[in-house]
Amino acid sequence: MSPEPAIVVSDVSKTFRIYRDKNRSLKATVLTGHRARYEEFWALKDVSLEIPQGKTFGLLGDNGSGKSTLLKCIARILVPNKGQITHRGRLAAMLEVGSGFHPELSGRENVYLNGAILGMSKAEIDRKFDSIVDFSGVEAFIDQPVKNYSSGMYVRLGFSVSIHVEPDILLVDEVLSVGDMAFQEKCAEKFVELRRSGRTVVVVSHAIEQMRTFCDEAVWLEKGQIAGLGKAADVITRYADQAHFVQQDNQPADEPAETVDEVSDTNDDRGRHGSREVTITKVELLNAQGEDVREVRTGDAVRLRMRYRCTKPVESPVFGFTFEHDSGFLVWGHNNEYPEQLMPTLVPGEGSIDMVIPALLLRPGVFRLGAGISSDRAVHVIDHLPRALTFAVTTGTPVETVGVVVMNSRFDNPVVGPL
Ligand SMILES: Nc1ncnc2c1ncn2[C@@H]1O[C@H](COP(=O)(O)OP(=O)(O)OP(=O)(O)O)[C@@H](O)[C@H]1O
Ligand SMILES: [Mg+2]
Repeated sequence: MSPEPAIVVSDVSKTFRIYRDKNRSLKATVLTGHRARYEEFWALKDVSLEIPQGKTFGLLGDNGSGKSTLLKCIARILVPNKGQITHRGRLAAMLEVGSGFHPELSGRENVYLNGAILGMSKAEIDRKFDSIVDFSGVEAFIDQPVKNYSSGMYVRLGFSVSIHVEPDILLVDEVLSVGDMAFQEKCAEKFVELRRSGRTVVVVSHAIEQMRTFCDEAVWLEKGQIAGLGKAADVITRYADQAHFVQQDNQPADEPAETVDEVSDTNDDRGRHGSREVTITKVELLNAQGEDVREVRTGDAVRLRMRYRCTKPVESPVFGFTFEHDSGFLVWGHNNEYPEQLMPTLVPGEGSIDMVIPALLLRPGVFRLGAGISSDRAVHVIDHLPRALTFAVTTGTPVETVGVVVMNSRFDNPVVGPL
């Protein structure tokens, strides 16, 4: 007889409220007493599954499909609107990068803080401290405030603390995609070791080929509902086939204009315009792993890519990218209209160009990426997509208080005392 499952998820639904009146000022709301209008959004809908004890279980699905929401419900950080989740044994979760970490405290202090949050006593942390730091590989920085850590360093330390809890159940969200190759291998080895000692691991990752190597079973979520459940190899193959199919479907060879994220010629309101000797066929926002993503963190290295198809030669083409804030104002833009940045003449055929941003200095929020091709020092517009795709920036480093941008600011020379 197989042992009782480690986690049972029964008929779980979770909704979020999406507020429509986001531009109403607080003052207007207070003065008129109107409640903001909202819509219910189903992040999870009627999800039921059992996660067997001692197995490594994968959660896969596109961005926004509900994977992190499900993990948070299992970890009891979120409460489902409907349904129940039970688990057996000690549970530790490594959810978002830096969750449970305080940016101003040192790595050492955060190990104690995070360890305590995860249920370890001070004596237990004292005993395991060296091993935690050793596994994380950040010993040289352990007495630095973690706000100065890279997202990879955050994850290494956070992951190291959570495995040292020696939990019966470990939940991990996206650790593999942030760490470098060496750390990813270390994590994969750890998963195997945990499984060998009968622990249950639930892991979310977009690195699906790696998941194939260490997951026993998996669920594939699509818009908050189960699209596949069972042996990891089967579910991953079906998910990968479907993702591939969608990609092909989005890029029919004779219809390049339709391939840009939700943009078509008939959507005038989205502001596409230009003479079209060259057509932008795709705009991508790539993370450090080269994946086309819709969520990045403050401080991440990103690469903007524009793919195009050219039908007539264009001399001195000018390529540009812009970031527009959700509220509509233009935050940033850059192109190569200056003579010292000349590009070679475009010839008929297909091509692409990248813009590299070493560190994205935007605060958390929603932004739109625009892309354009022009000529004549940007006077003649060939194809301009002001809103090619929408993306979210989430908390990374540096953490600064309000606004749209971060400036790597710091306080200096405080003068304390009577004037
Ligand atoms: N606190 C929240 N308030 C409102 N909406 C939310 C909240 N948290 C998540 N959502 C929404 O719920 C949906 C599922 O989000 P979730 O983070 O679970 O996706 P995910 O599968 O983890 O995606 P990713 O691969 O990008 O990490 C998304 O549409 C997201 O915008
Ligand atoms: Mg997620």
